[in-house]
Amino acid sequence: MTTTSSATWAPDTFLAAVEAAVWAPSIHNSQPWRFRRTECGIDVLLDHDRVLPICDPDGRSARVSCGAAAYNLLLALAAAEVPAAYVLGRDDALVHLTPAGHRPATPPERRLFRAIRRRHTNRYPFADQQVAPGVTAQLTDAARQEDGWLDFVVGDQAIFALASLIREADNQLNADPAYVTELQAWTHLAEGALEGVGRQAGGPAPHPAELMARRDFGGAAQRQTRDPAREPVVAVLGVHGSQHADEVRAGMALQHVLLTATDLGLAAALFSQPVEVPAIRERLRLAMHRYDDPQLVLRFGFAPTLGYTNRRAVADVVES
Ligand SMILES: Cc1cc2nc3c(=O)[nH]c(=O)nc-3n(C[C@H](O)[C@H](O)[C@H](O)COP(=O)(O)O)c2cc1C
Repeated sequence: MTTTSSATWAPDTFLAAVEAAVWAPSIHNSQPWRFRRTECGIDVLLDHDRVLPICDPDGRSARVSCGAAAYNLLLALAAAEVPAAYVLGRDDALVHLTPAGHRPATPPERRLFRAIRRRHTNRYPFADQQVAPGVTAQLTDAARQEDGWLDFVVGDQAIFALASLIREADNQLNADPAYVTELQAWTHLAEGALEGVGRQAGGPAPHPAELMARRDFGGAAQRQTRDPAREPVVAVLGVHGSQHADEVRAGMALQHVLLTATDLGLAAALFSQPVEVPAIRERLRLAMHRYDDPQLVLRFGFAPTLGYTNRRAVADVVES
């Protein structure tokens, strides 16, 4: 993409793009972002007050979340036919966008833009329905387009090994009362809360027999304890490098993957417990034969949307 020196986007275009950006995923729906319209473009900023001190002490998950929001912003501007070029980590901005002329949106940009409001994190059981073989290649390609990697974990043995890392991390995290207090403050919420995760979106209470240990978001105990999906589709996402800008890029790759999945009719579940415990993140890195830190574990499959999270008003996240 080339940068032009034209003035920044009109206020209406900026606000419409931010309206799309805020529907990005974020750790515990903490929405740790701010958007600033400047004379030469748009800045995506980290809202330091919304970084979760216990589960995200160095702000990694918050930067991944901001990267996902920046990806939505880029898509929204492209869909409005006023696309952006961007640089990562300029001054206090995680992402700095500048106008890149006018052109029609490409069909993938249009499809992914339309998927933004249909994408939700799934915390309910996946159906026993096979994901078509070519789909994993499309998801891997989505990550690659953002300079990321998405490695699928194949075979019962490898999936059980990954699942046991997630469970070990989940147990370690839950042993810290401060972690449990923070998790409960951001989840277990009534429907309609503008931030955090409501009980319905949070899914049923996790059951020890589940393959992949979910966080306890305050849902009611479930009747069905066995996951009906016999061939779970599980992957680990990462990018090359572990600097702050790389974590932002991981968020962009995450959102490109998630929107591609949504566009293909797939639901996705996210597991960040194993990357929140440094020793387990290192074991996961070794298991994946990667030089770079893994950033997130993802599971894809078929599941109806049974709960939604909300977002704060655009006016609460913009500065100019
Ligand atoms: C970096 C990151 C880590 C996340 N970790 C988890 C997780 O461990 N478990 C989970 O259920 N959801 C996880 N999520 C999903 C968020 O909880 C979810 O995006 C947020 O509640 C907003 O809901 P939505 O994705 O349905 O829009 C994570 C999201 C991000 C960006």
